[in-house]
Amino acid sequence: MFLIVCALLMVSSTENGDALPRERWPFNAGWRFQKGEAPAADPDLAAAQPAFDDSGWRNLDLPHDWAIEGPFMPELPNSTGMLASAGVGWYRKRFQVPLSDHDRRLYLDLDGAMSQAQVWLNGRLLGEWPYGYTSFRFELTRHVHLGAPNTLAIRLENPPKSSRWYPGGGIYRNVWLVKTAPVHVAHWGVFISTPEVSVNKAAVEVRTTIDNDSSSRLTVSVQQEVFEESDPKRIVARTNQAHIVVEAERSAESLARLEVTAPKLWDLHSPRLYRVRTTLRADGRVLDVVETPFGVRTVDIDAGRGLKLNGRQVRLNGVCLHHDLGPLGAAVNVRAIERQLELLRELGCNAIRTAHNPPAPELLDLCDRMGFLVLVEAFDAWRYPAREWVPNAYSRHFETWHERDVRALVRRDRNHPSVFMWSSGNEIQDQRKPDGVRTAERLKALFHAEDPTRLVAGGLDDANVVKNDFYRGFDVIGFNYKPHLYAETRKLAPKWPLFGSETASTVSSRGEYFFPVEQRIGDGAERFQVTSYDLYFPSWASMPDTEFAAQDDNPSVLGEFVWTGIDYLGEPTPFDPTRYLTYNKDPEDRRRIVAATEKNGGFSPARSSYFGIMDLCGFKKDRFFLYQSRWRPDLRMAHILPHWTWPERVGKVTPVQVYTSGDEAELFLNGHSLGRKKRGPREYRLRWDDVVYEPGELKVVTYKAGREWATALRRTAGQALSVMLEADRRDLRADGQDLSFVTVSIRDQAGDVVPRAGQRVRFRLEGPGEIVAVDNGDPTRLESFQSKDCRVFNGLCLVIVRTLAGRPGSIVLHAEADGLRPASVRLRTSAG
Ligand code: GAL
Repeated sequence: MFLIVCALLMVSSTENGDALPRERWPFNAGWRFQKGEAPAADPDLAAAQPAFDDSGWRNLDLPHDWAIEGPFMPELPNSTGMLASAGVGWYRKRFQVPLSDHDRRLYLDLDGAMSQAQVWLNGRLLGEWPYGYTSFRFELTRHVHLGAPNTLAIRLENPPKSSRWYPGGGIYRNVWLVKTAPVHVAHWGVFISTPEVSVNKAAVEVRTTIDNDSSSRLTVSVQQEVFEESDPKRIVARTNQAHIVVEAERSAESLARLEVTAPKLWDLHSPRLYRVRTTLRADGRVLDVVETPFGVRTVDIDAGRGLKLNGRQVRLNGVCLHHDLGPLGAAVNVRAIERQLELLRELGCNAIRTAHNPPAPELLDLCDRMGFLVLVEAFDAWRYPAREWVPNAYSRHFETWHERDVRALVRRDRNHPSVFMWSSGNEIQDQRKPDGVRTAERLKALFHAEDPTRLVAGGLDDANVVKNDFYRGFDVIGFNYKPHLYAETRKLAPKWPLFGSETASTVSSRGEYFFPVEQRIGDGAERFQVTSYDLYFPSWASMPDTEFAAQDDNPSVLGEFVWTGIDYLGEPTPFDPTRYLTYNKDPEDRRRIVAATEKNGGFSPARSSYFGIMDLCGFKKDRFFLYQSRWRPDLRMAHILPHWTWPERVGKVTPVQVYTSGDEAELFLNGHSLGRKKRGPREYRLRWDDVVYEPGELKVVTYKAGREWATALRRTAGQALSVMLEADRRDLRADGQDLSFVTVSIRDQAGDVVPRAGQRVRFRLEGPGEIVAVDNGDPTRLESFQSKDCRVFNGLCLVIVRTLAGRPGSIVLHAEADGLRPASVRLRTSAG
């Protein structure tokens, strides 16, 4: 468990005994919230005024997602998860600032607010920030009342038809109150790069922007010290104090070069971090101290030689991720993100594409600490809407705001060693417009102006982009779903590095299998589920195997980002009734999907995606093991699908597949060999298509280079007997944030999961904690995530327990289901 080091500077005094002039306080507690306009029609924006009576509003702490509590509403679009993320919401907070802050600058930093934020302090509009995914700051100093009550009011609005997926709603990321001296390091004002790196030494370049918000010119000294994050007392490099004149109400920049000898490199398996401490002084007094984490590493991206990290070839075994945290919604939670990354690491994933927007800063902090590469993406649309069904998306703001948004995202994130490349956009419609390349070039120049050290890519889906020159607006070509074009593109644009920015989009529901096994939707359509044989994909997509083969045939391709690592809310392809005709070219598939919806009164219950390698709860689908077999070739692993509990299939053909990092396997049914198979060239799964089902034991023994490698077993389950609870963590922090993810499973006499169990389990919690969400990974489950009971889906469901701030103690979660042995699990929550 990694602790996020909070950037709060709690040091109480400087070297000369003064109070430290910079403070950064979490500003998340004690907000009032109202969904909708308040009062209902509020043309005068009365709620922005301090005197407005908000006593009837809800009290809450941030981060907050106003839509995740539901209910799911059939009249709302499937594409945004049938949750009410659209609409207006208001937040208000009262706070005091001491008189002693009279000579300080005060700022409100929002890591992200969804969306179209307008912010008032004491009735004065401070400004607006439309894009929901970039971080922004407003200065409070001029309108703040010292030693008296202040009222902040924030109005947000998500227009309908503004997102292709579930965006969440509200102030869904952290908010901070920052205090500085009038002369201080600017917002995101430290930019660190490492222009030269060798085993012996690293050159560290630090650009610092200093703001002088006072009315007199000042000479300040800037000093930088470098230390390893794990050893803050040992300074490994230090500059002399450089003297800089900053004119009144102006900014100035300092440039420092330091040398770190024998640097400890940041790498995937050893993510070593350093920090630069920047100290500003004037007249012997400390004006500001800022610490900025960074890493020493080199990234080389070359069309022919691929991607090298610290000189070592690395293939991108990446996944795309949307920002929601499944049943927790869009509200940022560090432990929930960390758990996602832990699961992805187990998968063998080494890279994340933040589809299709800048992430929460906490994701990048974690990727720095855990060793992931990150492709930070800016936009899903530029000047033209991403699709005709989202006319109100970012394209409405692009012209006025793109520059501020790009500068904000690059300045915030350019010191993260995990960030290895930028993406200026995904499948932008401008790629088909004559002026598209100009926009692409403008954006590329903006990225480079803010960060000359990283290349800029895009997720392009139009096969013509190389022929119509659009690709010249990028340093690197990312192709969405174009494995068949890799070889040709290499020839047409030999100087451009190339990677799969979005691949596969194979769809499946965890634990669902339909027969006969074929490459179509089949009977699954009737239940709005997709088979887990990993054969089905929408018309633009492919099986993972197709992408693997194209990557193997084109070794200079940098790698891939699978769509997606984890299921997300919204976009429930192939069961979104407004769009299912585009899903599959096969008329029979279309017929079945349409018929299923019609039979259900025209309503499709699908509210979350089927694309994930893991389901919405983070439970592994079969596909997890297919990717793991490729991405962790040294891990001894084998996985059999489907499960082996099919009472109605006795005597029927029930195909079996094995995913293994071995190269050969022998399958046994009740001890009888069903044959030994070897993987052929460009073959990634082993298939026994003629297995006739009989209950009992299915076992595979795999081999690698002729030697026994790994085994796997599937047993026919007996009657459901008991509920089992397994907590991912039992020792928690009593901070009101920490989570335990408890897997609930239904077990038989032998302790095996009953694979098609569907019992309803009821939960009860004792002690200082709360159940914050439950779910089972079924994309059609329309019960609230906040309910206190949940039907298991194919044997499993998930309970997420959160601690209470300042309330250490013992928490016990009880689970019971009719006719089954109940279970409980004890968690400990402690201070600090
Ligand atoms: C891509 C798009 C993604 C997602 C995906 C589903 O074309 O970029 O956002 O919609 O398709 O396969």
